[in-house]
Amino acid sequence: MNQPTLVPTINEVRSTLSAARTAGQRIGFVPTMGFLHAGHGSLIEVAREHNDLVIVSIFVNPLQFAANEDLSDYPRDLDHDRALAGEAGADLIFTPDVDEMYPLGPVLTSVTVDSLAGRWEGATRPTHFAGVATVVAKLFSIIGSCSAYFGEKDFQQLAIIRRMVSDLSMPIDVIGCPIVREPDGLAMSSRNAYLDAAQRSAAPVLRRALDRGLDLIADGERSAAVLQREMAAVVAAEPLATLDYAAAVDAATLEEPENLAGDVRLIIAAQIGRPRLLDNAGATL
Ligand code: PAJ
Repeated sequence: MNQPTLVPTINEVRSTLSAARTAGQRIGFVPTMGFLHAGHGSLIEVAREHNDLVIVSIFVNPLQFAANEDLSDYPRDLDHDRALAGEAGADLIFTPDVDEMYPLGPVLTSVTVDSLAGRWEGATRPTHFAGVATVVAKLFSIIGSCSAYFGEKDFQQLAIIRRMVSDLSMPIDVIGCPIVREPDGLAMSSRNAYLDAAQRSAAPVLRRALDRGLDLIADGERSAAVLQREMAAVVAAEPLATLDYAAAVDAATLEEPENLAGDVRLIIAAQIGRPRLLDNAGATL
């Protein structure tokens, strides 16, 4: 099996990729925070298909965690990650430490993507998306021109990154990839590791709520308020889940129209035990 090379410094990444570019290679980039699962693997596989050189980054980015969140015990397993990334086709893994990424300590420069970042996830985690956009902008600046692969699992994150790349004319082709799920429908996530057995059996309720919404849409329902209420009712029936939001939104603006049309996303977030779980599903009307 291919063992990807670990590259811990920005300078080494730059020199390796600049040699690859000179040789005419297309570069595929998959940013992650590690503890990789098949969802991450699917992004690496797509990147492998379309590029000559595939680089994955593993960096648990302090900027995107609030003080009360799980930065210090975010799950990590570099040996496992290296094996999974190699199996999926990665050539290099960029593994900077915090000092390498933020040598001057707290950043003074931050990227914010105004109206897209304040709602939904941003309402509960007000500093989160500035932390994501800032580190992703920094990673893009380190990697340079490439195709970058993101999961639809984090749909709001994907929308924000697309908008940032367009607003700032970054030389990056952003590619969204479908959600990879467990056999019972739970979207794969590194944070699923926090669920105990009872919580794990309750967790597919998010998928069931989305399915209820999709069924209603298929039957002709176009009211965002009705869809919101019906999805919330599915989650309310699961005692271990506490709903944060369920909504039917425009896929590009993430705004909730009164009547749905065009590209629609059903989005949902709920707390089950320790983690907040996210999921979403799309429909074109
Ligand atoms: P992380 O949560 O590790 O996710 C890395 C990438 O994997 C993201 O693009 C995410 O959407 C995708 N992903 C996670 N679970 C998935 C699933 N079940 N199916 C498909 N794709 C999935 O997202 C982050 O890290 C960070 O915010 C990051 C962008 C790396 C910035 O720090």
